[in-house]
This record gives sequence, C-alpha cells and structure tokens, in this order.
Amino acid sequence: MSEHTPVLVEESLSALALEADGYYVDATFGRGGHTARILEALGRKGFLLAIDRDAAAIEAGRARFADEVRLALVHAPFADLATLVSRYSDGRPLRGVLFDLGVSSPQLDDAARGFSFRADGPLDMRMDATRGEPVSAWLARAGVDEIREVIATLGEERFARRIAEAIVSTRVAAPLTRTSQLAELVSRAVRTREPGKHPATRTFQALRMFINDELGQLERGLAAAANSLSIGGRLAAITFHSLEDRAVKQFMQAETRVPPDLARLPVIPPAAEPRFKLVGRKTRPAADEIARNPRARSAMLRVAERVR
Ligand SMILES: C[S@@+](CC[C@H](N)C(=O)[O-])C[C@H]1O[C@@H](n2cnc3c(N)ncnc32)[C@H](O)[C@@H]1O
Repeated sequence: MSEHTPVLVEESLSALALEADGYYVDATFGRGGHTARILEALGRKGFLLAIDRDAAAIEAGRARFADEVRLALVHAPFADLATLVSRYSDGRPLRGVLFDLGVSSPQLDDAARGFSFRADGPLDMRMDATRGEPVSAWLARAGVDEIREVIATLGEERFARRIAEAIVSTRVAAPLTRTSQLAELVSRAVRTREPGKHPATRTFQALRMFINDELGQLERGLAAAANSLSIGGRLAAITFHSLEDRAVKQFMQAETRVPPDLARLPVIPPAAEPRFKLVGRKTRPAADEIARNPRARSAMLRVAERVR
C-alpha cells in the first residue's frame, strides 16, 4: 500500500501557531502526516482529534499511533466536527483546526477504490465505502442533463454535454462499471488535449466531488470549525483546485468582513463585527517541495484566526 507525502507541512504547522497544551483537530487524517508533526509539537497535556471519513485511513492510523494517548482517531465526515469537538474537549478550548482536502495517495493508488483513471477498478469513488452509493450506480440512472451539470460545474469541463451523452448512450448496451470504461469513453468525447493532463481528469474530479458531496462537506466543516474555535484559535485549509479554494476564500472573506449593508452605519453593531481576521495571504508550496512531491503543485493554504 502506498504512502502519502504530506504537503505544506511547515507552513500549515506554523499557521496553526501550536501551543504545547492546546487542543487541535486534524479534520483530514489521511495517513497521518500532519497529525504526526502536530503530535511532535504538542506537550504531555496537548490533545489532537483526528478525523477521516475513510475507514482504511483510520485503520492504518490506529496501527501507526497505537500507543499515542494524546490522540483520538475518529471515522466520521468532518461535517460532524462540532459534535466531535465537544465530545473530546474535556473542558479544553479548541485552538486550531486543519483541513487538508481532497484524496490521499493511498486512495488514488488503490485501483479497487475506483478513484483513478490510470488503473482499472470498479467505478466507486466513495471516500467512505460504508455509506452512500458508488458512482456507477448514479451513472446508471441519472439523466443527460444531471450528468452534464455535474461534470460542467464540478469539473469545469467544456465537453460536459458530449461526455454525458456518451455515458447515457453507452449504458444502454452495457452498464458502466469500470474506471477504464469511463476513462476511455471520456477520452473519445473530449476533443482537445490539455498539456500534462489526462482527458478524463476533469470528469473524474467532478464525479468524485459529487458522489462524496465534497463542497457540501466543506461548507459544513468550515462552519463547524469556525463555531468551535476559541478566541485566538486558528483555522487552516489546504485546497487542491479552484472550486475548493474559492469556497475557502469566500468563507474566510465572509467571516473577516462586516456585511456591506452594515459597514455603512456610523457605528457597527457589536454582533456584526467579524469573528475572524485573515492571517497572511494564500500560500503555495516552494519550488523544492513541488520538485520532491509533484502532487503539491496545485496546493494552496489559507489561514484565519478567531478574534471574537
Ligand atoms: C489529502 S488527504 C490528507 C492527508 C493527510 N494530511 C496526511 O498528511 O496524511 C485527505 C483525506 O481527507 C479525507 N477526507 C476528505 N473529505 C473528508 C470529509 N468530508 N470528512 C472526513 N474526511 C475527509 C480523505 O478520506 C483523505 O483521507
């Protein structure tokens, strides 16, 4: 089983401004790259709640951190973060939350998970295979317009209609059940080639985001983190593509500005004062990190601090 190389580690650790005795959340445990570094920085009284919706990630983490008493590893979607934070708080204020979004290398590399257009596997794509339905089940019943809409909006794919039509006409003869079938069908439908990108990249991203409700999870996870943090607590989010980054940026903008209609008042009502301030600007990995780990090339980190 492959490993996962964590991205923007130093940058995200410094973004969290770790305090030795603090209570933190790693909302996307993966293979524990960030978790391990956070635990190294925490003292005896520090505590980390690490969450992942992928049971395989949690199982690997339980083996890796079997002796770690300062860690709770929980199999859950991060939309449930607020409830989990209170369950494990033991009266401690929450000092920081890290999101490192998207999929891990072990998820991509295991063909049986169905995330990859490079290796043949069942067309599944669920991060949590214990819930919901595989993407093949949805593709077997959705209409052309629904499929087009998902691929166009979540994949920003110009050829979404051609791809959706090809999916619906192909499935009449035989159901689409394998990643290789979908990758080939998309390659035929996509007319132009983006340099360095497999023609099915956008479609696979869109279907993965849809079947896992990734933007819905992100919206709920960010709101839960923002509500759970104590004053001075940090919110750090690493994203890997423009749709995720836009969601984080808009969330942080909304939390760091007075709503425009109230900003015109001579005195801003205390309840309208922003709860957060931005910390620095968007950070990207340095060239040497990208050289060591090509997966880091699209990573972006945004950070905010709770101020009231
Ligand atoms: C990029 S990896 C994180 C890697 C991790 N930081 C490390 O260093 O090993 C993203 C992880 O987040 C998990 N994930 C994505 N969306 C999630 C959600 N809504 N709730 C919980 N976990 C999620 C995925 O299952 C995956 O394991």
